[in-house]
Amino acid sequence: MNFVASDKVKKMSASIFQEVANRKLAAIKSGKDVIDLSVGSPDFPPPGFVVDTLIDYAGDASKYGYTLAGIPEFNDAVSYFYQQRYAVELNPRSEVLQLMGSQDGLAHLASAIINPGDYVLVPDPGYPIYEASVNIAGGAIYPMPLLAENKYQPKLDEIPLDILAQTKMMIISYPGNPVTALADKAFFEKVVTFAKRHDILVVHDFAYSELIFDGNPQISFMSVPGAKEVGIEFNSLSKTFNMAGCRIGYVVGNKQVIDILASFKSHIDYGVFYPIQKAAVRALTSDFTFLQTQVKEYELRRDVLISGLKKSGWQVAKSPATMFVWARIPAGWRSREFAFELIDQAGVAVIPGDAFGELGEGYVRIAMVQPPERLTLAAERIDEFLTVYSRNN
Ligand SMILES: Cc1ncc(COP(=O)(O)O)c(C=O)c1O
Repeated sequence: MNFVASDKVKKMSASIFQEVANRKLAAIKSGKDVIDLSVGSPDFPPPGFVVDTLIDYAGDASKYGYTLAGIPEFNDAVSYFYQQRYAVELNPRSEVLQLMGSQDGLAHLASAIINPGDYVLVPDPGYPIYEASVNIAGGAIYPMPLLAENKYQPKLDEIPLDILAQTKMMIISYPGNPVTALADKAFFEKVVTFAKRHDILVVHDFAYSELIFDGNPQISFMSVPGAKEVGIEFNSLSKTFNMAGCRIGYVVGNKQVIDILASFKSHIDYGVFYPIQKAAVRALTSDFTFLQTQVKEYELRRDVLISGLKKSGWQVAKSPATMFVWARIPAGWRSREFAFELIDQAGVAVIPGDAFGELGEGYVRIAMVQPPERLTLAAERIDEFLTVYSRNN
C-alpha cells in the first residue's frame, strides 16, 4: 500500500526546517563542529526553584491522573503575573485558559473559530503555525506584508474591503518571530478600532513578552482599551522561564473566545501534567529577578553577535526583542542557498527566511541559543565564509 499525506498536510511548510535539520546532522556526522542557531529552544535552564517544585510534585504518585482544564491556582497565577508585569487585570475564572504551550492554542484556534472559506489575516513573514492552523481549518489566508519601511506593521487600510467582509480573524505578534519588531500602544489602538469596524477577532501572540531589550516597554495587547472586546493574547512559559519542553502556556482575554477554545480543546487533550502546572505557578508568582537577569543575558548575546557580524562587513539590524536576529542576507544570495552553504562551509546553522513566508526571502533567522563565546565564533566563521564566497562583485 502507498499512503500519502492529505492535501492539508501537503500545504504545510515544515520541509525547510527538516532540510536544515538534515543538513546539520549530515555536517555533524562528517565530523564538523556545527554551531546550531537554528531552533528557538532556549539553552538556558529554568530557575532552580521551578525545577525543585517539579521534582517535589513528581514524587507524589497521586498526581499522575488527567488534569483536564488545569488547576484554578494556575489561572490565579497567570492573572497575578499579568497584573504585575503588564498592568492588565484578568478574571482568572473566565479570562484565562491553560494550554499545552501557546502552540497548542495557536494550532487549534482557527479550527474552533472559523468556517471553511473564512479569511484570516496573517503576517508575512510570520511564525509558521499561523498559516498552518488556517489551512487545517480550511480557511483562506490573506497575507499582511511586514516591511521594514512600515516599521514591520501591516497597512490595515490597504486590505481590500471585499476581503475584510469575509475575514473572521487576524493574527499579529509584537515582538514576533521571525520579525522581532515591537509595536507601540498607538498601533494596538488602531488594531482595536479596525477590528471593531470590521468585526474581526484579533489574536496577539506575546510569546516573547519577557525578552524585550534596551528598557523598551513590554506592552500587552490586553492593556489597550477595548482589547478584551475584540481579542485574545497567547503567552507561554517556554521562553520566559525556559520551560519549552514542559509544554505549558495560556491564552487570556475575550471570554467568549476562551470558552469556545476550551470547549474545542476538551475533545482533544486531557491537560498538562500536574507537577508542571505547580512548577508554572511557582514561576509566575516568583519575585521576577530571574527575568531581569535573563533579559540582560540575551541582550549581551545580541550585542556580541551583531558586533561580530559587523566586523565581517555584514550589517545586521539590532533586534529590539526576542531570542532571534532577523538578518537581511548579503547581496547575491537566495535565503536557502545562503543558509545551506553556511552549514556546509562554515558550520553555522540558521533558518532561511522563506520558511516564514514569501517576504522572508532575502533574510535568515539566527537564534541566539548559544553562549556569547559560541556566537563570537559563529561570527568569525561567517566572516571567513563571506571572504571566500563573497558575491558582491
Ligand atoms: C512566536 C511564537 N509563538 C508561539 C510559539 C510556541 O511556543 P510554545 O508552544 O512553546 O509556547 C513559539 C515557539 O517558538 C513562537 O516563536
